[in-house]
Amino acid sequence: MTAKPRSLIVGNWKMNGLRRSLAEIAQIAQGYDAKLRRDCELIVCPPVTLVYLAAKDAVGSRIAIGAQDCHIEASGAFTGEISAEMLADCGATTVIVGHSERRSYNAETDGDVKSKALAALRAGLMPIICVGETNSDREGGHTIAVIKRQLAGSVPGSADSEPIVVAYEPVWAIGTGLTPTHADIVEVHRFIHRELNALLGSHASPLRRVLYGGSVKPSNAKDILALEYVDGALIGGASLKAEDFLAIARAAPAPR
Ligand code: 13P
Repeated sequence: MTAKPRSLIVGNWKMNGLRRSLAEIAQIAQGYDAKLRRDCELIVCPPVTLVYLAAKDAVGSRIAIGAQDCHIEASGAFTGEISAEMLADCGATTVIVGHSERRSYNAETDGDVKSKALAALRAGLMPIICVGETNSDREGGHTIAVIKRQLAGSVPGSADSEPIVVAYEPVWAIGTGLTPTHADIVEVHRFIHRELNALLGSHASPLRRVLYGGSVKPSNAKDILALEYVDGALIGGASLKAEDFLAIARAAPAPR
């Protein structure tokens, strides 16, 4: 058995949330008690319109606030875009890059995702780089090959590319209620850890973590978070309600 560090539990609100939803983040911060702080680290990534307010409210609460995307440049004539530096300036500490929804609806390539991860690191943000196979990749037996290609293309491969987090989110498991078998999750996570060691050097950084994402709920979180090589979870739908998000956090195993 490998060591289990504190789990990293991240909420991705996607395009959900108005200012009144800040009450959910306040409730999460309030529920983040001493036991939870021992067992897990919490980050909420609301839509960008709420990042500044959420980060301001979260001061002193020890939960962190992240964003869901960033531009590759620091500033310039890119109408409508938001840079990693702007997110950091608003109090974000993290940014999700290469989510499958952005890869498919915004045609983001592995190269784009790597540039965004580098932009995040440049601005002092921790990138959460998402990878994951589609259902047809899976049915064709190509899961590992697809993940290998996405990691090689999307992860900045240099010694100073830390802290780095990879989220394994099978596209077919997102928002569907379906999850891979535990054996499949462990196999892919073990593979991702090995690939990261090859790309970034095998010195095990405590900040290098691999999260599982896709239909994580209070009812399945305990079993998933206990799996070997799973360092935490990236949660969509169930992160919108403080009660559910906290229930998932409470399911994290004690570090060992
Ligand atoms: P669900 O938890 O709603 O399946 O979404 C997962 C996800 O896409 C998180 O980034």
